[in-house]
Amino acid sequence: MASLICMVMGSLLLFKIFCDLFNRQRQRQLKLPPGPKAWPIIGNLNLIYPFFHLSIHGLALKYGPIMHLRLGCHSAIIVSSVDMAKQFLKIHDRNFSYRPKSMAGKYLFYDYCNITFSPYGPYWCQIRKICQEELFSSSQLQLHQCICAQEVKSLVGFLFVNAGKLIVIKHHISTAGFNMICRMVAGQKYPNQSLVEKGIVGSDELPKMLDELFLLTGVLNIGDLVPWINFLDLQGYVKRMKNLRKKFDKLLDHIIDDIKTTRRVQGDSKIRTMVDALFDLLEEPNPEFCFTRKHIKAVLQDMIGGIETSTAVTEWAISELLRNHQSLEKAREELEMVIGNERWVEEKDVPQLPYMEAIVKETMRLHPVGPMLAPRISNEHCNIAGYDIPAKTRVFINVLAIVRSPTVWESPENFIPERFLDGGENIDVIGQHFELLPFGSGRRMCPAYNLGMKAVILTLANLLHGFEWKLPEKMQACELNMEEVVGLTMPRKVPLALVAQPRLPNHVYHF
Ligand code: HEM
Repeated sequence: MASLICMVMGSLLLFKIFCDLFNRQRQRQLKLPPGPKAWPIIGNLNLIYPFFHLSIHGLALKYGPIMHLRLGCHSAIIVSSVDMAKQFLKIHDRNFSYRPKSMAGKYLFYDYCNITFSPYGPYWCQIRKICQEELFSSSQLQLHQCICAQEVKSLVGFLFVNAGKLIVIKHHISTAGFNMICRMVAGQKYPNQSLVEKGIVGSDELPKMLDELFLLTGVLNIGDLVPWINFLDLQGYVKRMKNLRKKFDKLLDHIIDDIKTTRRVQGDSKIRTMVDALFDLLEEPNPEFCFTRKHIKAVLQDMIGGIETSTAVTEWAISELLRNHQSLEKAREELEMVIGNERWVEEKDVPQLPYMEAIVKETMRLHPVGPMLAPRISNEHCNIAGYDIPAKTRVFINVLAIVRSPTVWESPENFIPERFLDGGENIDVIGQHFELLPFGSGRRMCPAYNLGMKAVILTLANLLHGFEWKLPEKMQACELNMEEVVGLTMPRKVPLALVAQPRLPNHVYHF
C-alpha cells in the first residue's frame, strides 16, 4: 500500500514539474514584471514563508513597485506604490474585481456565497446591492443610530461592573459588535447567555469563535497556493476551518429559524431588516442564480466577520494610545471640551471630535486590517506599465508597503494623528487617496466603510471618555508587545489585557 502511495505521489510530482516547465516556457514569451527566479512546484514560497509581510517588503525594495512572484502554482503580482495601485484599482478596476478561490471562502463562507469571496458577476452584484440598500446606506445607518449607542452603553456598563479586573478587551468589544450587527441585520440580538442556555454555543465560546473567524479568514494557507498538497493540510488551518464552520452553522441556523418564526408570527407588522430582503430572494425565481438558505448564512457570516474588523482597529488604537501618552491626553481634552463629564459620546458628537477621527485614521494607516487588501485575480490578459499581466493572475495590493514608506509618509513608523489635521483631514479613507487605503478602493472596496468608521470612533471615544486604562501590574507602556499576526489580515498577535478604572462621576454609569 505504502509503495502504491509513493508511486502515485511520485507520478504526480513529475507531472507537476512537467506542467511547471511548460508554463514557464509559455511565460518566457511574455514580458512579465520583474521578480525572483522561481523553483518548480513551490515557486517563490521559500522566499516569503513564514514572514510574509517582511519578506514581501524586502523583495519589493529589490524588484520595484510592480513585481511578479510565483506563489506555488499561481502567478502573482505584488503592487507596492501609489501610482501602481491606481492602475489596478482604478484604471483596470473591472478586470481585477474577481477573487481567487481559497479554503476560507469554501469552508467559512459556504462555497463562496458571501460578498467577499464570491466571483464578480450578477450574484455578487445583487447581494452587494441588497446590503448597500438595507444596511450600509446613510438612511439605514441613521435608523440604526440608537442600536450602536445602546450596544456601546452595554459594553460600558459591563466594564463598569468589572472595573479593577484584568480583562481581554477585544472579547468584549467583539461581543458588542456581534450584538450590534445582529440587531441591524436580523432585527434582534442573540445574547451570549441565552445562546449558552439553548446549547447553541458553549460558555465563553462566542468571542473565541469570532476571533477564530477573523484569524482564519486572513491566513495564508499553503494548500491554496499548492492545491495538490492541500489534502495534507500542513498548517492545520483547514481542520480548524471545518470545526469552526460546524459551530457557526449551528448559530446561523438558530438565527435563521428564529427570524422565520418572527416573520410568520408578526407578518406584515414585522420591522423590515436586511435578512428580510434576503428571504425575499428565496421566494423569487431568478434565472441567473439559485438562492438558498446557504446563501443567507454566507451573507450573515460576512456581516459578522466584517464587524470583527472594527474590533481589530479599536484594539490597535488603544494599544497605540497607551504608548503615546500625549495623543491620549489630547483626545481626553477634546472629549472633556465637547462632551463634558456628565454624559456619553453620541453619534451626533462625532463631527466635533476631529482629533478622535485623526486617531482612528492614523491607527488604520499604521495597522491596516488588510495589509494586502483582499486578494484579487485578473479576468483577462492586460498590459500595465509595459508589462503583460496574464488572465488568472493573483494581485496583492501591498498597502502595508505604501503606508510605511518614507517617500509617501513622513516618519511612517511613528503614530502621529496630527498628520490628519490642519489640512490633512481632507485625506479620506474611501478609496480616493491611494496613500491610505484601509477599506480598499474600486468595485470591491469595503461597502461598510461608513458603519466601520462609526463603530470604531463611537466605541473608542466612549472607552477613552469613561475609563482610565491600566496595563497589568508592573508592566510599562514601552513593554507592550506590538507584534502583528502575519497573514492577509493583521490583528494584534497578543490580545490586549487591561484593567479599566471609571473616570466619570458614578451616576453617569447608571443608565
Ligand atoms: C474599520 C472597519 C473595517 C475595515 C478597516 C474594513 C476593511 C475592508 C477591506 C480592506 C476590504 C477589502 C477591500 C478590497 O478588496 O479592495 C473589505 C471588504 C469588505 N468588507 Fe470591510 N472593513 C471594515 C468593516 C466592515 C464591516 C463592519 C462590514 C460588514 C458589516 C464589512 C464588510 C465587508 C465586505 C462584505 C467586504 C467585501 C466587499 C467585496 O468583495 O465586494 N466591513 N473591508
